[in-house]
Amino acid sequence: MKKIAIYPGSFDPVTNGHIDIAERGLKLFDKIIMAILNNPIKDCLFTVEERLEMLESSFKDYPDITVETFDGLLVDYASRRKCIAILRGMRAVSDFEYEFQLALMNRKLKREIQTVFLMTGLRWIFTSSSIIKEAAQFGGDITSMVPPLVNRKLKEKFGIAS
Ligand code: PNS
Repeated sequence: MKKIAIYPGSFDPVTNGHIDIAERGLKLFDKIIMAILNNPIKDCLFTVEERLEMLESSFKDYPDITVETFDGLLVDYASRRKCIAILRGMRAVSDFEYEFQLALMNRKLKREIQTVFLMTGLRWIFTSSSIIKEAAQFGGDITSMVPPLVNRKLKEKFGIAS
């Protein structure tokens, strides 16, 4: 039986930190499903279609990583897709409380699915989608923190010439 993990998130947009976690997750699992939360209430910069395109382009060379969208409860989707684990990255202590709550709630809802955290690589410790969006908005150079397509899309969104 293949060991499948789901890596859920908003991915608004995907960063090199997310990619690092997914790549390393492949050392533990046979397959990883990158699952984009399709939540119309959440205020995202990119539409779900744009986020899907950016993730698909980032993982085009990884046959064992697929990209999907989901709505509703994560654990329900994870069970339907036969995932044994939820994969998440953890950066600094500031991530801990939220991640802990999420993991405990998911465990309460479905005990058989384990949450697995990988520590973010040191290079990406200060990389987050929100900080990247803020820097990009004011013309900051975020080239080394995101895949090339994401860099282009951010510039387009904020009307910044390349
Ligand atoms: O990248 P994010 O925004 O931190 O990801 C949050 C995400 C998508 C993992 C979380 O909001 C989620 O799983 N939402 C789906 C609804 C759900 O199952 N929530 C957790 C139990 S209440």
